[in-house]
Amino acid sequence: MYHRFDAVIVGAGGAGLMAAAQLAGQCNVAVISKLYPVRSHTGAAQGGIAAALGNVEEDHWIWHMFDTVKGGDYLVDQDAAEVLAREAIDAIIELEHWGFPFNRTPDGRIDQRRFGGHTRNFGEGPVRRACYAADRTGHMILQTLYQTALKKQVTFFDEFMMLDLLLTDGVCTGVVAMDIETGELHIFHAKAVLLATGGFGRVYKVTSNALAATGDGVAIAFRRGIPLEDMEFYQFHPTGIYKMGILLSEACRGEGGILRNGLGERFMERYAPTLLDLAPRDMVSRAIYQEIRAGRGVDGKDYVWLDLTHLPPEVIETKLPDITDFVRTYLGLDPVKDLIPIQPTAHYAMGGIPTDVDGRVTIDEQNTPIPGLYAAGECACVSVHGANRLGTNSLVDLVVFGRRAGRHMLTFVQENDFHPLSKEPDYRARAEVEWILENEGTERVATLRAELQEAMMTDAGVFRTGDGLKRLQQKLGELRTRYSQIRIDDKCRTFNMELVEAIELGFLLDCAEAIAASALAREESRGAHYREDFPARDDANWLKHTLIARTSGGLQLSYKPVVITRFEPKERVY
Ligand code: FUM
Repeated sequence: MYHRFDAVIVGAGGAGLMAAAQLAGQCNVAVISKLYPVRSHTGAAQGGIAAALGNVEEDHWIWHMFDTVKGGDYLVDQDAAEVLAREAIDAIIELEHWGFPFNRTPDGRIDQRRFGGHTRNFGEGPVRRACYAADRTGHMILQTLYQTALKKQVTFFDEFMMLDLLLTDGVCTGVVAMDIETGELHIFHAKAVLLATGGFGRVYKVTSNALAATGDGVAIAFRRGIPLEDMEFYQFHPTGIYKMGILLSEACRGEGGILRNGLGERFMERYAPTLLDLAPRDMVSRAIYQEIRAGRGVDGKDYVWLDLTHLPPEVIETKLPDITDFVRTYLGLDPVKDLIPIQPTAHYAMGGIPTDVDGRVTIDEQNTPIPGLYAAGECACVSVHGANRLGTNSLVDLVVFGRRAGRHMLTFVQENDFHPLSKEPDYRARAEVEWILENEGTERVATLRAELQEAMMTDAGVFRTGDGLKRLQQKLGELRTRYSQIRIDDKCRTFNMELVEAIELGFLLDCAEAIAASALAREESRGAHYREDFPARDDANWLKHTLIARTSGGLQLSYKPVVITRFEPKERVY
């Protein structure tokens, strides 16, 4: 089936919906979503959205910018960090006007809480910068933006899975998507396309990410020859429920919770004497594993405790209701009186599809934009998070850069005509679906996925080595061969989730290959990329962004400079 829209947005999380809200009513816009929109992974973000409102204590956007740059271990493009910190304030007010139910101070202003790495006066101590709705901030963003998009009469294609990106003569001309309900392929011809497809946390075994976070947009862009940026930087959130990975918000520590090792010690005193448990996530995750390696995990096992027992029960019940519910439901424990077993959980991709500050996807070291193609949110790399994102900056990223992308797209579609599609635009997508349905191999998707996730966890997790990454690459090569021999049992086209999962596994393999090759090449430690064989940060050789491209000759690496405007790189001390 053929559709024609001025603008097509793929993904109905925070970035996609924010962009849709800018375009709606001004041009013909469609949102394609693999899920029913309010099930998008933005809904899993819990603790807050940062903006230097200064409602509870003194704060300034430039302090926020500084923290973002330092938190990202100076790999952040500072022009982007400045946009993020300045425009966060206005974006929060816009959300408030659209009905976002923020927690309030007694005098009725938006309340703010502490979060990791956010400081006053360039690092002096923690600051209350995270605006929040209990521990359901992402969920409330989705509800607010979805209602706004519906009110503005955006057209939604729910449960449509993007399979291909259409580029004709170097110009983006649309996408091909499969209606999951019928298996039918749809061609969306567009003047401008925004990829807002989220992350790829499902490459790891223990993750906070939803089942749908399989890197679809990232992998499709990679397959279409667009290089990916900084894929080696993958964040582990310190507090996932042990073995399950379910997120227990950093807001637990923002509200005063602390981490304890098996001896009951508040071990972050050793690693970050000023910010303690509210140090950036890369440092806290490494500290947890260092304690475990030193035999100070709980009962010698690979977990430590999150301790909330000293907090007033009403704070736990009213400001952290969801995580309280998770702990009661999944662990049978009560955060009011029990210690909670936690381990770092794969949480967020700092890397992704390279863009400029207007969301335009760029194709090379000179940041040349591809006409008509945009990306925003976790699938994009603007690069505002550098080597390590600060908590609450993902939601700001969605709304600030989703909004900028939407606004730029509007100008683009007003100034440009439809570029013609190439002949048979859906041939690649059709061939992929038919191949998966008809292949009569012996390999199972679930088995390959489990082996992929295990290997990624072992060799591309919080600690990495050259030998481990080479072993990983070998394993990925083996999995790639075995993927060509898969077989699915369900051959029908109606809600064929076996088919969907097989396609997703292909996307995950693409993302994993890009992570492994980028990580092996980067012989230094910076932010979330910690190489035990190269434990120091090396600005002389590595203060640069990785670009990895898939070419006919294999994966190809190149590098581009980091934009530094206000803050020269310094050692990170917290
Ligand atoms: O811990 C959290 O609530 C997660 C927030 C984030 O990743 O920004």
